[in-house]
Amino acid sequence: MDNFKIDLDADGILVCAFDVPNKTMNTFTKAALADLEKIAERAKTDAGVKGVILTSGKDNGFCAGADLEEMIGGAWEAESGDDEQSKLKAAFNAAFEMNRVYRLLETCGKPVVAALNGLALGGGLEVSLACHYRVLSNGPKVQVGLPEIKIGLFPGGGGSQRLPRLIGAQAALMAMSEGKSFKPQEALGAGVVDELADPDKVLDAAKTWIKTKGDPVARWDKKDFKIPGGGPYHPAGAQVFIMGNALLRKQSYGNYPAVINLMHAVYEGLQLPIDQAIRVESRYFCNTLMTPQAKAMIRTFFFSMQALGKGAGRPAGVPKSDVTKVAVLGAGMMGAGIAYVSALAGIETILIDRDQASADKGKAHCEDLLKKAVSRGKMSQDKATGVLNLITATPDYAKIEGADLVVEAVFENTDLKEQVTKAAEAPLYSGAKADTAIFGTNTSTIPITLLATASSKPENYIGVHFFSPVDRMPLVELIRGEKTSDATVAKAIDYALKIKKTPIVVNDSRFFFANRCFIPFTAEGMIMWSEGIAPALIDNAGRMTGMPRGPLEMMDDVALDLLTKITSETAKAMGDAYEPIPGEKEVAQMVADGRYGRKNGKGFYDYPEQKGAPKTLWQGTLDAFPVKMAEADPAQVEELKKRLLYVQAVTAARCFEEGVITDPREADVGSILGWGFAPWSGGIVSLMDAIGIAKFVEELDRMTALYGKRFAPPQLLRDMAKNGETFYSRFDKAGKKAA
Ligand code: NAI
Repeated sequence: MDNFKIDLDADGILVCAFDVPNKTMNTFTKAALADLEKIAERAKTDAGVKGVILTSGKDNGFCAGADLEEMIGGAWEAESGDDEQSKLKAAFNAAFEMNRVYRLLETCGKPVVAALNGLALGGGLEVSLACHYRVLSNGPKVQVGLPEIKIGLFPGGGGSQRLPRLIGAQAALMAMSEGKSFKPQEALGAGVVDELADPDKVLDAAKTWIKTKGDPVARWDKKDFKIPGGGPYHPAGAQVFIMGNALLRKQSYGNYPAVINLMHAVYEGLQLPIDQAIRVESRYFCNTLMTPQAKAMIRTFFFSMQALGKGAGRPAGVPKSDVTKVAVLGAGMMGAGIAYVSALAGIETILIDRDQASADKGKAHCEDLLKKAVSRGKMSQDKATGVLNLITATPDYAKIEGADLVVEAVFENTDLKEQVTKAAEAPLYSGAKADTAIFGTNTSTIPITLLATASSKPENYIGVHFFSPVDRMPLVELIRGEKTSDATVAKAIDYALKIKKTPIVVNDSRFFFANRCFIPFTAEGMIMWSEGIAPALIDNAGRMTGMPRGPLEMMDDVALDLLTKITSETAKAMGDAYEPIPGEKEVAQMVADGRYGRKNGKGFYDYPEQKGAPKTLWQGTLDAFPVKMAEADPAQVEELKKRLLYVQAVTAARCFEEGVITDPREADVGSILGWGFAPWSGGIVSLMDAIGIAKFVEELDRMTALYGKRFAPPQLLRDMAKNGETFYSRFDKAGKKAA
């Protein structure tokens, strides 16, 4: 057997250590499932086998789930057949394979225990649920859970049927619809596992259970089995589904087929014996897999994220570099955050500001973040002390010497940035690493090529654009100036990966890629406001698109004074070409009246002081433009949603046309990680591909006539429509044509 190491001990216990060859982590492939079937068969037919233990032969965990490429690829391939009926059957069989084999194990007639000596996620936890008993290691990094929903799927290896039978429908639905993972104590408390043991005692505990109790029948296969908390036919159980439905709809606005299908599978499956229930699960799973939403989410959240996490956008042929010393200029909100994530990755960090007190303030912010991490049990005190010791707060530019990289994050002012660039480059380009060091700017609006004119080595100058708050936002947008070299891009990517951020590489353009696409979302909200559409309606429609918040509340979060400043700077820079956005004067007036947004409790909304109390719309928001549309019928709501999403998407299309961004994977991942673009779509490019470019162009033409040229489709889209192309086929960077 290739994937399991088998040992029959003196007590007749068959210990099967999952150990996929040449992989650091176990995942279920077809071959591994075939091996598991052989184990089940042996347990059933070999009288010498008294019990079975599934454990891991690897020291980093039991199993991370199914091998998505192979297992899901199988169902998708099946879909390409001609005849509808056989296509569906083949897809079902591919989806059912895991369920079929796990059930064989569950009914092999011998007690089976999962001895989980580390993490068990997705299919890894699901096979454990098909065991009769679960012992989990109480080691520090151990977690178990069913995270499938995060990539647009739901548990399809029996998890949606066994977890509710084990811990009740309500707890199971909550865990599965959030993709929650459980730490050992939580897992025991919730009843997901039966016993905890020290890492080196897990196997012993499993053996003891087989020898002392060793019940070979799953609880749901027993006659008197009752679903904890009641099934859907039970009054209490029925409540769970009534409430659950409403709750899930409120959270997801029906945007996620996986969430809806999960509810169906649990509701219907719990009314059936397990053998039929797992078939119901596979049917809904298969249906989910075939939706454009799941396909796009899997591509973006799994394959593309993984590829970018390995530096997919990195120029070829440049040797890997290791950034060990960074200097950050400006210890304000962004600079302090950049220093924090750098030191956290073990990088020596020099944090520079105008004077010692300002630099210290930045370091104090890092200390606060570390204290929080320690108090939440996420970091040891020793580690926190070590991280803090890596940060030197100083006004002394000479300390930059020997750095691999400078990240500049001083005020957004061209003259100041030019001045500090010159001051920092002197020690940077004269020290030990003078030949290889690079300079990054965190500017959010100033063209990189313009700032690079202050640099003595413009080929080593690059935009390194972080998002706020830096410690939490996972994206870094790297911006090439006209002269930025490949070696500089590669080094910046190496740095981004080292600090555990996902990098995307874009070319210089006003607001680069992320903010350029995001700003039209808030602008569209302002335009709607100026048209007399009720603000509550605007923000509700915004949320219904799947964006994290509506456009007006988002403006409050970003800060109205900052947005007004950006607007006036843009107007200044663009001169006659600038076209004012309806509503911008009214927002400027709000700022003049001291309404800065959430940060001072006053913006489009009023924010109550007591924590957790809901915000309320400020009356002035309603007075600025008389409300003409206070309510909307479903068709009108759809139109508002379209405006808010399409205005962003058409901007992304323009970025492709202008070569600002060139890889659809970077655009999709960037849109979701950078500004929370509707995750159900798989990202801003997947949205356009799913609509179909021809249909999208048709809609844009209609909307241009109604609302103006901000919706006008660029020639690129018309060409693609004519050729029947998608973004993923035209701009294929993965090396294989994706759907
Ligand atoms: P901030 O105002 O919080 O911090 C700027 C810091 O620069 C201050 O601590 C200031 O004392 C320091 N500084 C000024 N002159 C200096 C000098 N000569 N030498 C060293 N330090 C000096 O500003 P924030 O928000 O941190 O922004 C910094 C940069 O990051 C700006 O370019 C901004 O556009 C950009 N950015 C801001 C984002 C945000 O959400 N706030 C997001 C992405 C980029």
